[in-house]
Amino acid sequence: MKNVDGTTPPGPPKRRPYTKAFALPLLIILVSAFIGSLNFRWRMELRSAHEYISNSIGGTYANAGWYDDENDEASTIIRKSYEQTYAHILPCDDDAPSGKQCMNKTIQYFNPKNKNISRDDDLPSIPWWFQTLLRDMSQNGAFGSWHHFSTTTPPLNFCSIEKVGTTEWRGVFCKLNADDCQPDPIKQCGRKQCAWQTTKDMPDDAPWAVFLRDPLERLLSGFLDKCYSNITRKIENHCEPNVIFNPAPRLKDVVGKVYPSLVDQVIDNDKQYFAAYVDVLPLKWNLHFIPQAIACDLHRRIDEFSFVGNMGEDFMFELERMADQFGGGPLADVMNSTFNYLEFVKLQKKNTGNVVRRHSTHAPAKVQKFYTAHAVRRGLEYLSIDYMLLGLEVPEWARQMLRDDAS
Ligand SMILES: *[C@@H]1O[C@H](CO)[C@@H](O)[C@H](O)[C@H]1NC(C)=O
Ligand SMILES: *[C@@H]1O[C@H](CO)[C@@H](O)[C@H](O)[C@H]1NC(C)=O
Ligand SMILES: *[C@@H]1O[C@H](CO)[C@@H](O)[C@H](O)[C@H]1NC(C)=O
Ligand SMILES: *[C@@H]1O[C@H](CO)[C@@H](O)[C@H](O)[C@H]1NC(C)=O
Repeated sequence: MKNVDGTTPPGPPKRRPYTKAFALPLLIILVSAFIGSLNFRWRMELRSAHEYISNSIGGTYANAGWYDDENDEASTIIRKSYEQTYAHILPCDDDAPSGKQCMNKTIQYFNPKNKNISRDDDLPSIPWWFQTLLRDMSQNGAFGSWHHFSTTTPPLNFCSIEKVGTTEWRGVFCKLNADDCQPDPIKQCGRKQCAWQTTKDMPDDAPWAVFLRDPLERLLSGFLDKCYSNITRKIENHCEPNVIFNPAPRLKDVVGKVYPSLVDQVIDNDKQYFAAYVDVLPLKWNLHFIPQAIACDLHRRIDEFSFVGNMGEDFMFELERMADQFGGGPLADVMNSTFNYLEFVKLQKKNTGNVVRRHSTHAPAKVQKFYTAHAVRRGLEYLSIDYMLLGLEVPEWARQMLRDDAS
């Protein structure tokens, strides 16, 4: 994976063992301690929180120094948006038992309804879309336990992110854990007959792996799947806010007047429809559009991952890299049966250069059809944390679209 400036990030991250086995007892102890000292503690924490914010914006950038040389509009948008939003995420206690509790500190800090908290008057001003992100994040499944797959063959934890091959990866882990469901799969593993989290004991030091995807591509892929496809939109209700994109028939306003469809003038124009969706989506953040950095607490845990793959045009090679890193064997077999990457990689290695490296998602080909410079700018703002903290690079087509728009 390369950084935005084209350099390769420093070597494989060092992994610290993840103390999953202690998580539950720790959680119980902490919650009891926490409740006991709630009032006092919150006042103390919020005071220090404010000091942290006022002192730390420069500090946060120390980790992302490679952005400093970039004068490109895309990089400027990312940097500026990050500074106004995600840079305000408060540090958690090292022993915060879960991503959700960690983020709770920030959510409570900015919650305007939180009247009991004495706050400094000069609370940082954040854009409205970040306010609603904080509001929605704790309730829309962003911290759901289904992001964590695990197996003992080989011992491996996997962070699964919506719109980054979740269905396929779930299949991989179900196959690896097939005997966890024997002899009575429905009884032991439910209707799907699948244990994506192994029921066997996981070693505490089992490594973690994750695949990431270009955030703009993932945003479009989410739109195509959850909104553009009319049937899925109506069945799944993930094109939120539904009051706009899936209104009830004869939806009425407060005086009983029926609303006309708010989108009927744009829905037949791909660029307008997508841009409208991108503008409006933060009114109600759906899980599929939450930044990848929130899943599995990646924004503060990415360094603990032994493998960080990219679901981009080298996806097949990335699969090989992952299978090799974790010993091949049953993992490689099962990954091949899901992704069929082995033949592809073999062929490519034979005739290097001739075959275009593209994986099966069609979003890259569709960007010109759906993206406008405006939608790119919005997307970079919302998803700045992924570019800043996960080492993803802005795709050249997006930079170019902004340059063309500016000239
Ligand atoms: C978040 O903090 C609030 C206020 O202290 C508390 O009531 C709530 O239970 C917390 N939620 C989680 C998930 O920790
Ligand atoms: C705020 O504090 C008051 C008085 O201490 C208490 O009655 C009330 O329940 C608290 N509200 C919340 C939301 O914690
Ligand atoms: C979805 O429905 C809209 C309006 O009802 C229609 O104009 C559009 O062509 C449909 N889109 C697809 C992909 O079928
Ligand atoms: C990989 O999977 C494909 C399709 O499932 C299969 O045809 C091929 O033989 C497999 N390759 C290996 C080396 O197992």
